[in-house]
Amino acid sequence: MLPAALCVIAVAASVTAVTRHPLVLVISFDAFRHDYVRANMTPSMVRLRAASASPPYMKSVFPTKTFVNHFTMATGLYAETHGVLDNYMFNRSHGLIHYTYEQFHYDNTVVPLWVENENYGDGRHSGVMMWPGSDFEYQGKLSTYVQKYNRSMPWNDRVDKIMSWIKDDNKPANLVFAYFEEPDRTCHSVGVESQETINQIVKADVTVKYLLDQIKCENLEKKLNLIILSDHGMESITYDHIIFLESYASNMTYKMIVTGPNAFVYPNPGKFDEVYANFTKAAESGTFNVYKQDQIPERWHFKNSPRLKGLIYLLAEPSYMFWYDILNITAKDEFKVGTHGYDNANERMNTIFMASGPAFKSNYTAEPFESVDVYPLLSHVAGLKTPGTAGARPCNGTMDTVRHMLRQDAPSAAVRPPSRRRSQGVWAAVLLHAAVATVTRCL
Ligand SMILES: *[C@@H]1O[C@H](CO)[C@@H](O)[C@H](O)[C@H]1NC(C)=O
Ligand SMILES: *[C@@H]1O[C@H](CO)[C@@H](O)[C@H](O)[C@H]1NC(C)=O
Ligand SMILES: *[C@@H]1O[C@H](CO)[C@@H](O)[C@H](O)[C@H]1NC(C)=O
Ligand SMILES: *[C@@H]1O[C@H](CO)[C@@H](O)[C@H](O)[C@H]1NC(C)=O
Ligand SMILES: *[C@@H]1O[C@H](CO)[C@@H](O)[C@H](O)[C@H]1NC(C)=O
Ligand SMILES: *[C@@H]1O[C@H](CO)[C@@H](O)[C@H](O)[C@H]1NC(C)=O
Ligand SMILES: *[C@@H]1O[C@H](CO)[C@@H](O)[C@H](O)[C@H]1NC(C)=O
Repeated sequence: MLPAALCVIAVAASVTAVTRHPLVLVISFDAFRHDYVRANMTPSMVRLRAASASPPYMKSVFPTKTFVNHFTMATGLYAETHGVLDNYMFNRSHGLIHYTYEQFHYDNTVVPLWVENENYGDGRHSGVMMWPGSDFEYQGKLSTYVQKYNRSMPWNDRVDKIMSWIKDDNKPANLVFAYFEEPDRTCHSVGVESQETINQIVKADVTVKYLLDQIKCENLEKKLNLIILSDHGMESITYDHIIFLESYASNMTYKMIVTGPNAFVYPNPGKFDEVYANFTKAAESGTFNVYKQDQIPERWHFKNSPRLKGLIYLLAEPSYMFWYDILNITAKDEFKVGTHGYDNANERMNTIFMASGPAFKSNYTAEPFESVDVYPLLSHVAGLKTPGTAGARPCNGTMDTVRHMLRQDAPSAAVRPPSRRRSQGVWAAVLLHAAVATVTRCL
């Protein structure tokens, strides 16, 4: 407990120079399903949620995939408009693309918020830590701070680096996006219920606790808007729910990219109708759906991408997925994996969102909204032009579903400093977690 006590003394003396613009930090934990926030597993997030504006869940956009939703949150656009249709996909000449410049640049007018923020100038700087798409230039620009994806980098080091961007004397960041690859990575190989997955959920919570300690230590609680969110949920799959597509149509007659419950099929010349007919017949089993581009449901805001031209799109029903070669089916009885990518109406694909800090109401349960609405909210809170107002870039998200989380809308709360209750909540978390706490850096 000594380090925590010392920290409080240090706070009184420390003066951290930060941006004069509103300060926004967005943290994403990949595949953090909405129901993972539980007192026995994530005590720090439970406390933080009580100090936040937070819906019971946030709905992903379709397909409920990592690159898709992270790029949607950064651009305010649906997949069909920003062009990132999945983590792995076909390019224009039907070669496989995965995390390439081309994948994130279907349309060069699409610019993520970290670049836009810097375009506003006036001492604004962005920092992006491993967020999908962040190490590519957009219209020739990167953000001031970029940390490329590096799984070996310890999570507390990542937090320290984020804080160093915010505290930089010459170029203090006012907008930071950070991505953590768990619990997604572990859950894919062992399923939702396994202890290994739970360990990763706990690790995320301990990291949030470490971050809150740093924020408190730097005396940034009244300045920094902290948003903890995720991209999608997760589903567990057993062996009897694996679909082997090549038993319905010979894999010699098409090229295919499978990404779990989603598949892009590119039939060989002259084979489109036969492949489509065979898959459609097989789909009568009720385990998956088959779509020509024009049959894809409008509500997914996916079908109008020119990148789907000439393809057949397959989507498995909840709890089913397509076989692909990364799966290990040596032990069929014990086989259990995690996956996602389903219809975004599937509640297991729902994820978390909690926003705390000077801009947001505290202990406020919001109505659920979609991840496409995160972009207008971030633009607004960061003090940039709010989509929907004059001169702002057009986007698919709306402030209408998220505005009610803002503190300025609360009649009597406008000038009140962050509530005492909140400080006590965070302080209680510090004490409770003293056992796992690392010595705070700003001592
Ligand atoms: C598509 O990707 C392949 C590699 O998978 C590459 O060789 C090809 O140049 C790409 N095509 C286009 C049009 O970029
Ligand atoms: C990734 O992070 C580890 C640990 O911080 C570091 O040792 C390594 O050099 C990094 N790798 C790259 C490619 O930067
Ligand atoms: C489609 O199914 C029929 C009947 O099972 C089969 O004879 C044919 O080879 C299949 N077509 C392809 C492209 O695999
Ligand atoms: C087609 O499927 C067979 C049987 O599953 C497999 O052995 C073969 O490698 C596959 N070929 C291609 C091109 O995917
Ligand atoms: C596949 O699973 C089996 C049984 O669980 C295990 O012994 C084997 O090492 C695994 N293979 C790979 C390549 O992971
Ligand atoms: C949050 O609000 C609920 C009622 O809406 C109240 O019961 C609870 O004590 C509050 N929690 C905190 C930490 O303020
Ligand atoms: C999304 O926004 C883009 C850019 O303004 C627009 O072209 C597109 O029609 C919008 N999509 C929907 C579904 O409104």
